[in-house]
Amino acid sequence: MNIAIVGATGNVGRKLLEVIEKLNFEFSELYLIASDKSIGKKITFKNKTYSIVGLSDFDFSKVKIAFFSAGSTIAEKWIPIAAKKTIVIDNSKHFRMDKDIPLVVPEVNADNLKNYKNKNIIANANCSTIQLVLPLKPLHDQFKIKRVIVSTYQSVSGAGNAHMNELEEQSKKVLDKQKVSPKNFTKQIAFNVIPHIDSFMEDGYTKEEWKMENETKKILDKKIGLTATCVRVPVKTSHSESANIEFENEYDLETVRKILKNAPGCKVIDENKDGGYITPLEAEGDYLTFISRIRKDHSNKKALNMWIVSDNLLKGAALNTVQIAECLIKKK
Ligand SMILES: NC(=O)c1ccc[n+]([C@@H]2O[C@H](COP(=O)([O-])OP(=O)(O)OC[C@H]3O[C@@H](n4cnc5c(N)ncnc54)[C@H](OP(=O)(O)O)[C@@H]3O)[C@@H](O)[C@H]2O)c1
Repeated sequence: MNIAIVGATGNVGRKLLEVIEKLNFEFSELYLIASDKSIGKKITFKNKTYSIVGLSDFDFSKVKIAFFSAGSTIAEKWIPIAAKKTIVIDNSKHFRMDKDIPLVVPEVNADNLKNYKNKNIIANANCSTIQLVLPLKPLHDQFKIKRVIVSTYQSVSGAGNAHMNELEEQSKKVLDKQKVSPKNFTKQIAFNVIPHIDSFMEDGYTKEEWKMENETKKILDKKIGLTATCVRVPVKTSHSESANIEFENEYDLETVRKILKNAPGCKVIDENKDGGYITPLEAEGDYLTFISRIRKDHSNKKALNMWIVSDNLLKGAALNTVQIAECLIKKK
């Protein structure tokens, strides 16, 4: 089976290569595609050197699966063309809410993959949504979730290469007592937090907050109410989330803990003592989504709080994408 990665030089693209190698995802030929400025650049992968090729003249009938991680504009223009010849798994937000396109987190709704033939496209969910729906799914199955209030603490790698570099450059300048002028971020990110991810909508929410609400409904259950505040923090990798989850009825905390301990793709680290929780730095490079600080909400008997941390480039993007491909192959 031949495969292609569009956006192979990007943050997610490079992680896709890592995951493909680690999971031993089998392929015959691999094509690495990026923008014109990268054509001819070399990437060594599994002891073989590949030359980056351009998108516009690539013949997608050469591959069985094309992984796209090159952003929405590229997705909008090129995926419909590619999907006439191959199966596309896309990381961008562009197709996620299309009712004919499955939006998949394999541990949660792998069954939806059967609809991939509608358009030959499968959408990978937003990084902050993926790590949230993993623990929500088994809790919803047991207790029925009514409403979620979530605040995110999202790392700069979620915004791409350029933003990652900007955090580093700004941090050095601040420490050197030099003046900082934001380039890709709207405000200084070093030693600061920015309550704004993606574009603003008319109702005052940002598109990232809208995505969390609507993707959770599409993946899990349209009856779940969700309100989000998404914040960019000066962390390199891994997103953290503080979630308040309200069930239809009262619940038992011990059962919640048991369910979360067995939740696919999750690991509970919750020791109720100094350091007995996970931080984004510790989750970096790990395939699991970590859950800490599980506790009752004293203001509402039907609600609880938890802290959820996951590597946004792995489960939030590349790992989920490869898992989708693995599921698809198994199902076929
Ligand atoms: N980062 C995350 O946590 C995360 C999580 C989930 C989903 N996503 C989504 O994944 C996508 C990629 O994100 P990223 O963080 O990897 O971005 P990135 O680091 O900025 O990389 C973008 C990639 O797209 C390529 N590209 C740009 N213009 C192109 C063109 N005209 N033709 C072909 N390739 C082109 C770039 O190639 P050059 O190097 O040649 O410019 C690069 O390989 C985005 O849609 C993002 O929203 C990201």
